[in-house]
Amino acid sequence: MKFYPCNRLQGEIQVPGDKSISHRSVMFGSIAQGTTEIHNFLQGADCLSTISCFCQMGVNIENKGETVLVHGHGLRGLKAPDCILDCGNSGTTTRLISGILAAQNFTTILTGDESIQKRPMKRIIDPLTQMGTQIESLNHNGCAPLKIMGGPIHSIQYHSPVASAQVKSAILLAGLYADGETSVTEPYVSRNHTERMLSRFGADIRTEKTTARICPPKELYGQKILVPGDISSAAFFIAAGLLIPGSEILIRNVGVNPTRSGILTVCREMGADITLLEETKDPGEPAADLLVKSSALHGIHIGGAIIPTLIDELPIIAVMACFAKGETIIQDAAELKVKESNRIEVMVRNLSAMGADIKETADGMIIRGGNPLHGAVIDSRLDHRIAMSFAVAACLAEGETEILGAECVNISYPEFYADLKKLKN
Ligand code: S3P
Repeated sequence: MKFYPCNRLQGEIQVPGDKSISHRSVMFGSIAQGTTEIHNFLQGADCLSTISCFCQMGVNIENKGETVLVHGHGLRGLKAPDCILDCGNSGTTTRLISGILAAQNFTTILTGDESIQKRPMKRIIDPLTQMGTQIESLNHNGCAPLKIMGGPIHSIQYHSPVASAQVKSAILLAGLYADGETSVTEPYVSRNHTERMLSRFGADIRTEKTTARICPPKELYGQKILVPGDISSAAFFIAAGLLIPGSEILIRNVGVNPTRSGILTVCREMGADITLLEETKDPGEPAADLLVKSSALHGIHIGGAIIPTLIDELPIIAVMACFAKGETIIQDAAELKVKESNRIEVMVRNLSAMGADIKETADGMIIRGGNPLHGAVIDSRLDHRIAMSFAVAACLAEGETEILGAECVNISYPEFYADLKKLKN
């Protein structure tokens, strides 16, 4: 797909529902009693993989488009699937579902696409094994396909070496079935959607500093879930609005959970003009309308506890840094190497091809802003966030940019290019 520079962005958009929250609403609804009604569900390929896995385990899920109804079978109501579960490109599906499967009285095989089969699963195999489950990586490389032989679960007090909501959630979900209280302590707090939503479904779950604890409930109960817009999708329009001169964009109903909204802190530190309007104090997840006006940005230092709160936004932050005055240093972000692609390597390679001054480091990047970017051929490596980052970079680069595999945005934002076009005047 080919992209060209544009003058200014103006208007209003609503980004699709949050991916992390959409996945969880289907998973928790499937193991709850009664019906879970989900509004603004993200109809992206990843969340559809989650729906299809639970349908294969006997859950009746009515996908009506904007609304999804999950008719749950209770904590012990899943059936053994009669085929291999396909998680597609979705790390969240693979890791969270493993926590649930670890406690079932049947064996399952999970797999996914080429990218999923390269992503590290030892991080969930280790704690789930400690909880009493047998999990085999069928290719003996610590990756999917995984054979999960479910069974009785023991509670653990786990200290995770990585700040990862997927690891934390897998353990907490297995903890729903354990023989006592399970806790997970992380180096820094990762996104807390599991804790917030499980608590709404009736679980006894508490958090203190970087530790989350769960006591096994008798049952979970279906809920009505309003999924806010995904801040990780909004991030591309936040960046485009800030960078493209003369732009003003209103992004409606964006989730601003503090464990996800590090991008807003970073943008403001870089000098961005972003206003939060119409903040809702939903007990489940807070949301707000974001008014973004083009701004002159300057480079900053990003590392430490803020990293998990903006981990998926670092590719687009790297693009912003190319247009910021001075140096931006991103560190403590080695997790970027094990996302849908190696996002450090792919960003450095592609932004360098466009003329940016960017260096790869062991756990991040160093970017000197100010070099004008020019069009290039960009290999997205079929990573949705890479494709969207370069669609924004292309708006600001001179000449033509071609993004290979651009259609991979269907993972998290099928209407992305249409929404971008809508804002170009
Ligand atoms: C997610 C957690 C993050 C994030 C991913 C979604 C989740 O991954 O990158 O896109 O829904 O829990 P990690 O937990 O591996 O950091």
